[in-house]
Amino acid sequence: MIHNDILSTIGGTPVVRLRRLTIPGTEILIKLEGFNPGGSIKDRAVLSMIRRAELNGRLRPGGTIIESTSGNVGKALALIGAVNGYRVILVVDPNAPRSKLDYVRALGAEIVVVDTADDSGLYQRPRIARVKQLLTEIPGSFWPDQYNNPDNPRAHAEQTAYEVLSDVPAFDTLVTSVGTGGHISGLSSTLKRELPGLTTVGVDALGSAAMGFPFTGYQMRGLGLPWQPGCLDPDLIDHAHLVTDHEGIATSIALARTEGILVGESSGAAVFGALHHAHTHPGARIVVIAADDGIHYLGESFDEDWVRGRGLHEAVFGAGLTDPERLVEAARKPTSPPVRLGLRYATT
Ligand SMILES: Cc1ncc(COP(=O)(O)O)c(C=O)c1O
Repeated sequence: MIHNDILSTIGGTPVVRLRRLTIPGTEILIKLEGFNPGGSIKDRAVLSMIRRAELNGRLRPGGTIIESTSGNVGKALALIGAVNGYRVILVVDPNAPRSKLDYVRALGAEIVVVDTADDSGLYQRPRIARVKQLLTEIPGSFWPDQYNNPDNPRAHAEQTAYEVLSDVPAFDTLVTSVGTGGHISGLSSTLKRELPGLTTVGVDALGSAAMGFPFTGYQMRGLGLPWQPGCLDPDLIDHAHLVTDHEGIATSIALARTEGILVGESSGAAVFGALHHAHTHPGARIVVIAADDGIHYLGESFDEDWVRGRGLHEAVFGAGLTDPERLVEAARKPTSPPVRLGLRYATT
């Protein structure tokens, strides 16, 4: 098949059955969003936000796009900017994986680094403040505002959800990570309508406030926020599972070593959440969305020295948590068990 441009290769990502990181009698299917050309689920949301802005005139030919991003939205914007001829300015912080920054620079995006954190030691708010400042300085510039833009969840409600259904027409549970809340909210809105009785599990970092829990901080990248994003509809999430850094990172390492699936930390956390759900719901058929590929974490969470530097070595490697049998067993009793969240639909 010949594509007219790289953007038309977005979507159509594969679904793979886990063979060893699973519970006998239960099926865990993982949809690999890292197969998108920008390497993550964000290609879909960003394309949707940019197309809408083009249609309603908020983004004009040759215009400038400015966004705050820790990596994957930036990659998607750099990709779309390169193809569609936009100037792209990405406001990042020192935690952004170096290789992601190299990627966006290679595609012609400009980077502004915010290196002063707020009182809670985080960069998201200072990054957004810098975006707002740049918007006033650059006439006609456009801010997708991924945290609040309804075209972010809409991409998943209108496209990703139907892709899941075409590969897996019937299943019991959706487990996926929460950052802006875009993909879990969009997917859940369609999937709960199409599959009555579907249970949804939102997986976030323990210490994140995205689903309304107290903010205490965390180290995993991709998921989590210090506030509740506008794109998240908590009523569509039945259970919230807050996964620790060591549980999420150990699972991403085990996925690589045991299944040959190289995905990021948020995907590891989501699979850990799925394993726990499998323990408590024997026989369930579970779909997990793996938000990105693991290529940018190679020198980081896949590297023992990096893990040691973050104070997680004993919990990940010392405790043998990357061993598939130990990991599956550890998921029986997670550090922080899931809690009920959604009120709109009652499922178990
Ligand atoms: C690696 C990764 N995981 C999870 C998420 C969360 O996805 P969402 O923003 O749709 O909630 C993101 C979002 O940037 C991400 O990049």
